[in-house]
Amino acid sequence: MEAKRLTGMLALSLALLIPVFGQSDRDGCAPEELESQRNTLAGFLSPDFAGDYDLAIANLFRLGALYQSMALRCGYMPSEPEIDSMLEQALSFVTLEDLIAAQSVGSDVAAILLELQETYGDPLAGQLLYNGLEPALGGVALGCAGCHENDAVAPLTAGTWTRINDFRLGQPEFRDYSHRQYLVESIVQPMAYTIPDYAPLMPDFYGSQLSIQHLADLVAFLDSQDQLPDDE
Ligand code: HEC
Repeated sequence: MEAKRLTGMLALSLALLIPVFGQSDRDGCAPEELESQRNTLAGFLSPDFAGDYDLAIANLFRLGALYQSMALRCGYMPSEPEIDSMLEQALSFVTLEDLIAAQSVGSDVAAILLELQETYGDPLAGQLLYNGLEPALGGVALGCAGCHENDAVAPLTAGTWTRINDFRLGQPEFRDYSHRQYLVESIVQPMAYTIPDYAPLMPDFYGSQLSIQHLADLVAFLDSQDQLPDDE
């Protein structure tokens, strides 16, 4: 029961936070459609405060959240004070750690690949993340560039796409791998395969620091790295 309640709340916090990044789908947003949706939702609101108080206030709460996601989906852009107050409310019932965990991609490569199909990656945003110039979840700066700009520590960023394509995927263990699968696994499960010649230094916690959008951006950035350095 408790776990179920928490899951609902996490879903709600996400509903509040994620649309800020502009995932809008305007189907059903014409004025008359909105009105009919509102009427339908209102039908669920039979707050029997005398009979079942707990259920009544829970319904009130959930419907409020549904109305908000409806408005967000239809393109409403909350103001900064509104976003702050939503965050403050969310944080009053879940911890920041739980919120971050709920937004992170985790390390299930197959599930991530499916989600990536729906997520457009921006190479420039990926470059900023990679270089620690934009924060990932929880405000952390990623240290990718720190290791990957020194060939003695890790494969160089330059040429990542080509190296994967021309060298890694040709190896028998990756016969059934797609390019993206190799790349995503390298990021969220670096220990699944470690490249000979390098010490297994890459941290295995990125799945908990990246949202699907962050990962899509990193993938887009690394896919743009198709120029091998001269000595390869
Ligand atoms: C502490 C050093 C370190 C950090 C930080 C680091 N990596 Fe790595 N990375 C490595 C090493 C070492 C390897 C090669 C050995 C292995 O496979 O683990 C590697 C391998 C990779 C590969 C596979 C490259 C290839 O040529 O097959 C990718 C892709 C990659 N890292 C991406 C990232 C991204 C994205 C980040 C940041 C989110 C990151 N790395 C952070 C050390 C690091």
